Amino acid sequence: MTQHPYNPGRLLFGGDYNPEQWSRDVWVEDIALMRRAAVNTVSLGIFSWALLEPREGEYDVTWLDDIIALLHEAGIGFFLATPTASPPPWFTRAYPDALPVRADGTKLSHGSRDTYAISAPAYRDASRRIARFLADRYGSHPGLRGWHVHNEYGTIDYGPHAAEAFRRWLRRKYDSLDALNAAWVTAFWSQHYDEWNDVLPPRATQYLHNPAQAVDFKRFNSDEMLEAYLEQKAEITASGSTAPVTTNFMLPTWNHLEQWSWSDAQDAVSIDHYLDDPGIDGETHVAYCGDLTRSWAGGPWLLMEQNAIGIRMGDRTSLKEPDQTIRNSLGYIARGSQSSLFFQWRASAGGSEFWHGALVPHAGEASRAFEAVVELGGILESISEVVEPPTDGRTFEADVAILWDAEGWWSTETPHLPNDALSYSDEVRATHRSLWRAGISVDFVRAGDDLSRYRLVIIPSMFAMSEADAAWLTSYVRAGGQVVVQFFSGIADMNQRVITGGYPGVLRELLGVRAEEIRPLPDGETLELGEEHYSELWSERVQLDGATSVVDYREGALAGLPAITRNDVGAGAATYLSTRLTQRSRDRFYARLCVDLGIEPVVSGAADLGLEAVRRRGAAADYLFLLHHGSERVTVSGEGVDLVTGASATGLSLEPGGVAVIRESSREWMLAAENPSGE
Ligand code: GAL
Repeated sequence: MTQHPYNPGRLLFGGDYNPEQWSRDVWVEDIALMRRAAVNTVSLGIFSWALLEPREGEYDVTWLDDIIALLHEAGIGFFLATPTASPPPWFTRAYPDALPVRADGTKLSHGSRDTYAISAPAYRDASRRIARFLADRYGSHPGLRGWHVHNEYGTIDYGPHAAEAFRRWLRRKYDSLDALNAAWVTAFWSQHYDEWNDVLPPRATQYLHNPAQAVDFKRFNSDEMLEAYLEQKAEITASGSTAPVTTNFMLPTWNHLEQWSWSDAQDAVSIDHYLDDPGIDGETHVAYCGDLTRSWAGGPWLLMEQNAIGIRMGDRTSLKEPDQTIRNSLGYIARGSQSSLFFQWRASAGGSEFWHGALVPHAGEASRAFEAVVELGGILESISEVVEPPTDGRTFEADVAILWDAEGWWSTETPHLPNDALSYSDEVRATHRSLWRAGISVDFVRAGDDLSRYRLVIIPSMFAMSEADAAWLTSYVRAGGQVVVQFFSGIADMNQRVITGGYPGVLRELLGVRAEEIRPLPDGETLELGEEHYSELWSERVQLDGATSVVDYREGALAGLPAITRNDVGAGAATYLSTRLTQRSRDRFYARLCVDLGIEPVVSGAADLGLEAVRRRGAAADYLFLLHHGSERVTVSGEGVDLVTGASATGLSLEPGGVAVIRESSREWMLAAENPSGE
């Protein structure tokens, strides 16, 4: 895991700032308000290409110079974006071939944003040029906190440039058409290729796509966008700018990037995170995003955007209460974020996202939303010492690791699986949620990582696995590790070809089982298992081949047959879940397993009181973040100081919705629900 010890020296607070839509008197007011709220960082220029380069090769940076000077004078730093996520109308007029084409052949027009064909040479050249221009001009500005290359890479093009670039990528990968034909099993359905030029992106076609082609196209897109990012990064470096370079990932709605390799190519890893639930499950989502990004980064990271007061979900905006804004921000920071940045500073009065929440709402500063922003700014200043990482760089301790595999996601998006309702991200998320509910800290790992520090490693639906992946897991188990493999893992090789002879392919030996049938369940149907567990979506007819059954199916065609098995291997054990446990059963299963393995929550009993307890390790001390999502006042007793209030942590009273960040003098904590009547 590459380490990115990104340390800006203080917690960064602020967000995307799009001053070009406002007059200068509003800028002056903005800066006064930023100072009031202790905002110290904004991101500029994210979608400003048309203003920065109004005609090809002609630049106009008067407004940018002006706003940067105002910000700098006020002590506010900035990330500067390269604006390549939104090519201007003149660009598409001059290079219509650089517009993206959808899978169904529709060529998009400009008029929104993110309308680029990533492989179009004109687009790549123009992107390099504007990146170099900005880097030459601003690369050594003392207020520059870092480079924000592009924005959320992810427009997928199926047009002629993509087709050519895809073929180039495939030639590098397979060398010969024979190898491609074999890997994609093109003998089926008369797909055999005898000309490279016949090979296409998975465009709209009559019926099912070739699954290996579909996954290769995903891999290609991640690599292609990475190359485009690296070209811009090279221009920035060549300009002599030494400011860290990042590009903001996007979760959770789509996933076009293989984040591990992308993280290796950045100086700081950053992410935009938008809640997928306005209620308590949104809190688990903050934790999920934070754990993922910290793991990709191998250390501290940047929250580049989060939703301010409104949460846009589907066709409406639901309100995010001010206390939730504060809790969410601390949730990310607890998990290693060096920032709490938002989209966006001031709510737009017009334009495409004018109903999106912002730090300064339409109502202006006289609003409880802005009051919460001021409060958050104050809290971040008082806890800012947490940014200093410990000397070993490890801001976080976890005994449990979950495998994250972007390809697992991509594979489950190919159609015609045994159950197309299976979603990789839901699967990973559900497991992470169970551990969150038990108060257990989690890291994510990639195949091949050193697992020796973990006591439990969980593999959720990693459909395609190599022999090397299986050997990696086996040696961990032999050495004393505990692995839980969830269904639909190890089924196929890296070309999406099923490993025949029984599921789960390369993991059969490690798990000591052989499954001969996958039996998907209809939507909404559950199966009763032993130990009062229930499952859904998926089941398998499993034969024991060395393993023992821990839990059997209790009903249906598989009644009496193993559902959950365990195989002792060397000094460790490998458990197989052949079915999808419902969330409640999954919660119980992992809570019990952690107890059996002696894996402790961060603070025992916290989760039962509705408290999220997260420990962030720092240079001067360790910090216990307590985020109260429950409904009863809680008394906290232990040794330390709450940096939010300055109060001693002995007898600290935490209101529902409240937060504490305790500089710990010891790790012994007692929590108790307070009885308001004092009885
Ligand atoms: C992000 C994007 C921002 C803004 C925001 C609104 O994905 O980077 O520019 O559009 O969504 O939710």
